[in-house]
Amino acid sequence: MEQSYTTYFAEIYDDVMKNVPYNYWFRYLGDLLKYYQHQPESALELASGTSNMTLKLIELQSLNRITALDLSSAMLSKAAEKLEAELYNSQKFSNFKVQNNNSSYQLQQNKRNLTVNFKAQNMTDFHFKDKFDLIVSFFDSLNYLTDIDQLQGCFESAARSLNNDGLFIFDMNSVGRINTIEEKSFVIEGDSYECFWEDIVKAKENLWQVKLKICPDNDQLPCFEETHSERGYKIETILRLLKNSGFKAVDVYNAFSFATGKNHSDRLYFAAALDEKRLQQNQGKLKKLFYGARNRIDYFLVSLKYLF
Ligand SMILES: C[S@@+](CC[C@H](N)C(=O)[O-])C[C@H]1O[C@@H](n2cnc3c(N)ncnc32)[C@H](O)[C@@H]1O
Repeated sequence: MEQSYTTYFAEIYDDVMKNVPYNYWFRYLGDLLKYYQHQPESALELASGTSNMTLKLIELQSLNRITALDLSSAMLSKAAEKLEAELYNSQKFSNFKVQNNNSSYQLQQNKRNLTVNFKAQNMTDFHFKDKFDLIVSFFDSLNYLTDIDQLQGCFESAARSLNNDGLFIFDMNSVGRINTIEEKSFVIEGDSYECFWEDIVKAKENLWQVKLKICPDNDQLPCFEETHSERGYKIETILRLLKNSGFKAVDVYNAFSFATGKNHSDRLYFAAALDEKRLQQNQGKLKKLFYGARNRIDYFLVSLKYLF
């Protein structure tokens, strides 16, 4: 990762992303878990950022251990801050303890004990003492691994960190989307900043870069610049890397549907398992049709901003 997700960008990230329908993404994840009849007790989120999805994962009542991993300690500090604010402001948890300088939280809710850990680590090479039932990653974070060896390293780490009957679910921007993003520049006007955004597409390298210049509304403070790079990979390449890493079964979906994903789909969701029969343990075709149809309708309403 180049110099990105610095302290300043971490401060404004949620404001810049305020229209992202995380609630809807979480419901889609919920449907995938129901479809695969999965009730995970432990979850690892890769590239968890400021915890927009981590805070939703807490709502999965079966979970008693969540680890949120990100390379940027600035994003993780923001995440911990948000978790604390949520804990102080909501009645959901009757009791909680903070340990190790905001990196570990013990929460109590009726009979449920939940641990939430934040870890500053690289998702290309991570090791945990205890394995997880579920590993997830959202918002094209895996596209940030612009070198194929990094993506392989991430999949290998996920394979050794996943329980044998667990699921690894992640989204990625398709190679088709990366190559057809329109090159443009625009300005995002925040309450306390201006963010100059420039999209650059290098189609030959399947590379999309976003150059950001963030200027606080304060003449005393300097502007900051960041470059974000995402690489698109063909589905065949991703499947090969997953198989090389030990995943024996993989379903690929056109995001927010249960239809098979294609290289020209916009966003893809992958559900990968170490056990070759694990994905066959599902609720069957009728439920798949139901979830698919419901998510497509919701997707349409979300795009019109009627839902979530
Ligand atoms: C687009 S943001 C998504 C954040 C979060 N998943 C969300 O949905 O809001 C991408 C995140 O990937 C993280 N990231 C990029 N490269 C990484 C790496 N090699 N290891 C861990 N995290 C990484 C960044 O720090 C950033 O928080």
